Amino acid sequence: MTTTSASTTKTSQAQAKSRGYSRATTAPTRKGDSSQVLLRLIGYMIDRENRLRLVVATLALLLSIIALIAIPWLTGRAINLLSSSGGSLSQLRSLITWALVSCAVYFLLGLYASRQYSYLATRGLFKLQNDLFSHMQSLSLSFFDRQPLGQLVSRVTNDAETVAQFYENAVSQIIQSLLQILLILGVMLITDWRLTIAALLVVPVLLYVTSTVERVSSPAFARLQEELGNMSGFQEETITGNKVIISCRRQDWAGEQNEKLADGVFDVASKAYFAALLQFPVTSVLILVQTVIVLIFGGFLVIDGQTDLGTVTAFVAYSAMLGTPLSDLSNILSTALAAVAGGRRVFEVIDEQPTVVDTPSAQDYQFQGGHVEFKNVDFSYVKGRKILKHNTFEALPGQKIGICGPTGAGKSTIINILTRYYDIDGGMILIDGQDISKLTQVSLRQQIGVVLQEAFLFTDTVMNNLKYARPDATDEECIQAAQQANAHEFITRLQKGYQTMMTERGANLSQGQRQMLTIARAMVANPRLLVLDEATSNVDTRTEKLIQQGLQRLIAGRTSFVIAHRLSTIRDSARILVVNGGEIVESGPHDELMAAKGFYYALYMSQFKGKLPGGQAAASADFIST
Ligand SMILES: Nc1ncnc2c1ncn2[C@@H]1O[C@H](COP(=O)(O)OP(=O)(O)OP(=O)(O)O)[C@@H](O)[C@H]1O
Ligand SMILES: [Mg+2]
Repeated sequence: MTTTSASTTKTSQAQAKSRGYSRATTAPTRKGDSSQVLLRLIGYMIDRENRLRLVVATLALLLSIIALIAIPWLTGRAINLLSSSGGSLSQLRSLITWALVSCAVYFLLGLYASRQYSYLATRGLFKLQNDLFSHMQSLSLSFFDRQPLGQLVSRVTNDAETVAQFYENAVSQIIQSLLQILLILGVMLITDWRLTIAALLVVPVLLYVTSTVERVSSPAFARLQEELGNMSGFQEETITGNKVIISCRRQDWAGEQNEKLADGVFDVASKAYFAALLQFPVTSVLILVQTVIVLIFGGFLVIDGQTDLGTVTAFVAYSAMLGTPLSDLSNILSTALAAVAGGRRVFEVIDEQPTVVDTPSAQDYQFQGGHVEFKNVDFSYVKGRKILKHNTFEALPGQKIGICGPTGAGKSTIINILTRYYDIDGGMILIDGQDISKLTQVSLRQQIGVVLQEAFLFTDTVMNNLKYARPDATDEECIQAAQQANAHEFITRLQKGYQTMMTERGANLSQGQRQMLTIARAMVANPRLLVLDEATSNVDTRTEKLIQQGLQRLIAGRTSFVIAHRLSTIRDSARILVVNGGEIVESGPHDELMAAKGFYYALYMSQFKGKLPGGQAAASADFIST
């Protein structure tokens, strides 16, 4: 089985966002620059439009923290007032009022700031995911050749999820904690520097613990995201290939394999989180120790008459208050580490540059009849492994060019470079005298309709699938195209006609029906040039006739390239290119090639072996794949 079915995709959308990058270089953010990844992630939250919102939110937060810090100070004053003999009730009342006002300000402004930060978090995530997704659309096919699909999906889902967690929980927390630490330290220093030093004694230990955890956990988190990607990749492949799995009775194997991968994820996750979680109890203990130190040292100072009870009480509260943001920061560490690992994988994709790019002076393709020329074209997908060698041929305007040859010969590859999915290594491809490497990709692909080997219909109505390549087409145009493609009849028999929903990839249609739909889709697009890759395999003779009829109507008057294993499909071509091992070994009309009794003759005879009078068969026909 060499082909599945046909599908039309107008790929202009795919490249519409091409950003004019220069030739391929991958610029993944390297290990070690975690802070750079974090800053870049935060940058998504705080873009220009949201800067004012951030400033206002941070000011509100600042005020709420000032109110929070005022509470212990007011409490300290109240204690001093109560412990001294000269205090008045009205003074106490005013202190209590201020404390209550501070509580209210802390609560209300804190709430306002949280709301603003959560807005920024949602925006940041939205922008990051949008950037990732639209950038993927701009990437060249060579990128997707290198990436397992599941791994890519994992970058949009698992990796983005770690970033989401970071945005939602960590960013505002980090700002709040840092502000809180700075303000509390300021107040403490102004009030009593000796007590401040006592309260800070444990900080170096705390910093040491944090950096150790970072060192151990960071690589573990990077591995965790990788393992998650592997597992998603496997699951994606298994679900997509479920029919093969069922028919080969590999369900148990798939289950076991998944369990193994899940075990791998579990192991790495528990290592990563254990190291990060260890931080929490250690930090809690250190904060308690810090409070005790302040209490003992403060006690001595009070006894010595160097400070008052209110100040020490305030300091005990301050050092507890200092402990909260410190421990919050250490808790955030695991979220931040996971976000760095996830963010790094997301940025690897965002930083990937398309290999096929429009040159700065690229012109739009001007259609002048559709004259296609390949001049000495060389091409390789992977450096050093040449696939097409010295391909030279010509298609005159309106001509049908057939392409045939054994499987893996390079037939689809010719189409891939004609549509400029890939750039060529040497030679030149001209359409209407215009070098395609100097044309804009969008203008080129707007004029070339492609019906590919692989079927693809989208989860949408039949009508919208027909309009996929030209959204502004009218319903009447679509119905007319469906009639031309012989699809109208079966569509009207569907439950809701043209409004019937297709399931993913058109799984609720037969293969022949899918092919007819995709031919109709190409008709709606109404391209000037056409490329058909194996559009008629694996269907019964009657359906094949209907499809052929549709194809003939589609091809009529347009320069077209038709790849076929079934040579009857291309017999009437103006010229047939016979490809073998990446070279065009023969070319010419059917009769000429038959008369030459060469490669094509052998291919043709082997297909009609037994069908021709006398049962003539070619000796060298055993390379045929179908
Ligand atoms: N994306 C890719 N990356 C690397 N190599 C590729 C890629 N696509 C195809 N190839 C290789 O290029 C060669 C030609 O492939 P191509 O798809 O053009 O064959 P084909 O003639 O269309 O075969 P078939 O009749 O089976 O469709 C094959 O050897 C194949 O392994
Ligand atoms: Mg092919």
